[in-house]
Amino acid sequence: MFADLPLLPPDALLGLTKLFNEDKRAVKIDLGVGVFRTLDGRTPILESVKRAEAKLLSAQTTKVYTPPEGAPGFADAIARLLLGEGHPAVADGRVFALQTPGGCGALRVGAELLKRAGAARVVAGAPTWANHQPLLAAAGLAVEMVPYYDAKTGGLFFDDFMSAVEKLGPKDVLLLHGGCHNPTGADLSPAQIDRVIAAAERHGFAPLVDFAYHGFAADLDADAFMAREIARRLPEALITYSCSKNFGLYRERVGALFLIGETRERVAAMRSQALSLARGNYSMPPAHGGSIVAEILQSSDLAALWKREVAEMAAQIRENRRLFVRTAGEMQFGERVAAIERQNGMFSMLPLSEAQVMAMRERYGVYMANTGRINLCGVNRMNVEYLCNGLKDVLRS
Ligand SMILES: Cc1ncc(COP(=O)(O)O)c(C=O)c1O
Repeated sequence: MFADLPLLPPDALLGLTKLFNEDKRAVKIDLGVGVFRTLDGRTPILESVKRAEAKLLSAQTTKVYTPPEGAPGFADAIARLLLGEGHPAVADGRVFALQTPGGCGALRVGAELLKRAGAARVVAGAPTWANHQPLLAAAGLAVEMVPYYDAKTGGLFFDDFMSAVEKLGPKDVLLLHGGCHNPTGADLSPAQIDRVIAAAERHGFAPLVDFAYHGFAADLDADAFMAREIARRLPEALITYSCSKNFGLYRERVGALFLIGETRERVAAMRSQALSLARGNYSMPPAHGGSIVAEILQSSDLAALWKREVAEMAAQIRENRRLFVRTAGEMQFGERVAAIERQNGMFSMLPLSEAQVMAMRERYGVYMANTGRINLCGVNRMNVEYLCNGLKDVLRS
């Protein structure tokens, strides 16, 4: 049966953590792994999560299956969090939220739903998160890359991106990052989002918004601008949401798929299809993470504590960005690195070739993705000068 299966190489990013851990040097820096980390390199359990978990464990009386749409209370709570109180699409019954195993689960179910609906192709700005292509391709969707990120300036090729967007038709899908673009950190501005939505209004394509870093750019309301505007103005869209980063629930695998339809009846049909896709895949999502999120968001004390904790994580990442840009600026890295301060979220791209990425690893024990993507969480007061000195050396050679 399996004799003809070739051996695949290990996942490049997951393999990076292993290489970092095996590196015996006393001074080394991990800029690879895509998780939030404190200044001393920990990814702690949030206090709000610990308290919600304690409450849940003491109250829990059964492990019986949860409904396929997820833990009780999760869907309403996450919809209020993402779309805000009293969003017109929710009031009109045009939104259904389904709990999924992480943002990846939402992407996979969403992609299969798009495939069933007859989506012709998915267009995405280049570069995009490394797992988008495999997740969408597994559902039988081809991903076509169009210009987005300008590596020379650290900004966007917005005009080129818009010309591609203007060519999309009603059976096309535009994959957008809801905020904190992975891997570049370069987000669309509100004015640019407005232009993309106006193009969708004219041409009838459906956005697929992938939102994995809610609260990590500015704040929970400002960050939700794209999702809220799309749900308000467009008849159809899908939004995939991850609670991995902002709730720190990575291994619990909790996320959501938002279905936005033109009418209540359309959403009912989309809902039935998405639930049948989930049933044929993993049946129902793991309950624990969804229950934690519901418990936090339904309790005003826990929600207030969680919002403070998200704001603290976001502030720390912004501070790390400033620190890196200031130190690199003092060493005259130029405008390309200065752009990093204007970007959002955990990630940015360094202007390094693959050979230079390898040189950083070999000479300095600095680990990052082969593309030059760095996680700013790994930069701090203790290591920033060492990092910048290494970069200066490698960029010179
Ligand atoms: C852009 C993007 N989308 C989706 C995800 C999926 O996250 P999850 O771990 O919740 O499946 C990630 C996680 O890194 C991400 O960066």
